[in-house]
Amino acid sequence: MKIAIASDHGGFELKETIGEALLKKGIETMDFGTFSEESVDYPDFALKVGEAINNKEADLGILVCGTGIGMSIAANKIDGIRCALCSDVYSAKMTRGHNNANVLALGQRVLGDGLAMMIVDTFINSHFEGGRHQRRLDKIKDIENGYKGNDGNEA
Ligand code: RB5
Repeated sequence: MKIAIASDHGGFELKETIGEALLKKGIETMDFGTFSEESVDYPDFALKVGEAINNKEADLGILVCGTGIGMSIAANKIDGIRCALCSDVYSAKMTRGHNNANVLALGQRVLGDGLAMMIVDTFINSHFEGGRHQRRLDKIKDIENGYKGNDGNEA
């Protein structure tokens, strides 16, 4: 499994901690930056991770900013990306199982390192359950593709 990681300045420290921890576990990472606490714009980094997933260079992504909110909003604008902002372990498990989330967003200013790593481990080790959940993801894809109506026909 390969994990694409990135942050803005507000998530830099936690992104570094996650990267080091994943390496220690033998999990390959692609680090798209940022590489310092100098101010940058989070959408630039969300896009890099989203592209890595869509290009199949990475299996999953992890994005960190101050709250995780900006990263999750930006990542979810990218076709094919299902980004879940998680601050608890239950949500991390369920968003893989039910939403097949392919990107996890975290807030460095929200979480301690210990909880953040438990969320990361849970996200990586949980699996999509398929079935009725796939039908719902298909409907999300329809929205992504410009579906506007509510009767099965394009508006
Ligand atoms: C940067 O100060 C901060 O706005 C950013 O890291 C993030 O929290 C945005 O959602």
